[in-house]
Amino acid sequence: MTTEQVKQIKFFAFEALRRDAGVCIACGLCQTRTKVVFGVGNPNSPLMLIGEGPGANEDATGEPFVGRAGKLLDQCLYEAGMKRHHIYITNIVKCRASEIEKGRIKNRAPTHEEIDTCVPLWLEKQIEIMQPLVIVCIGSPSASTVIQKNFRIMADRGKFLESKYCRNTIAALHPAFILRQEGERYVSTRQTLIDDLKAAKDKAIAARSEAKLTLF
Ligand code: URA
Repeated sequence: MTTEQVKQIKFFAFEALRRDAGVCIACGLCQTRTKVVFGVGNPNSPLMLIGEGPGANEDATGEPFVGRAGKLLDQCLYEAGMKRHHIYITNIVKCRASEIEKGRIKNRAPTHEEIDTCVPLWLEKQIEIMQPLVIVCIGSPSASTVIQKNFRIMADRGKFLESKYCRNTIAALHPAFILRQEGERYVSTRQTLIDDLKAAKDKAIAARSEAKLTLF
């Protein structure tokens, strides 16, 4: 099979999966979501970014990381030498988790049940099709799901670890966390995200040439 054929198969498999995810009713989040946020970017990229889950902006547009945190992620990707079309971006859960507080709808973290329902249905299948050479977990909930339970984001971000999904898995700080920092701390945490994205990019380039060398 040629590389072009492999790319096409991946593309069509992703589109079929996206169609199925678009009508998912496996958990209660389907009752409050506007759009399923499946993922965006290049499924043939060696690099996959996995965030936590959609918020209000993502729920409205159907695209991951489009709010303030998404803008910061785009800037950091750019400073690490990448654009969205170079990589694939998705989340551990595909629908917005929300709750009503004082009459207003606000985002909440997805529950363990919601994560345990969603991940095998969609994320694991995306990874199976895409076979990324490097996975970047954006934030602690993603790292705890993909790498290991009780992952310590501050102590262990920036380290390449083997996960059950990918030999090269690394965690980075979530841009929403960085946005909550002030002054010097904002500058240093932002730089940390750029450095981790750049390390992931370099690892993906190295792993890709290694894969080519060891194919036969
Ligand atoms: N935060 C995430 O983790 N994912 C998104 O898509 C948006 C914000």
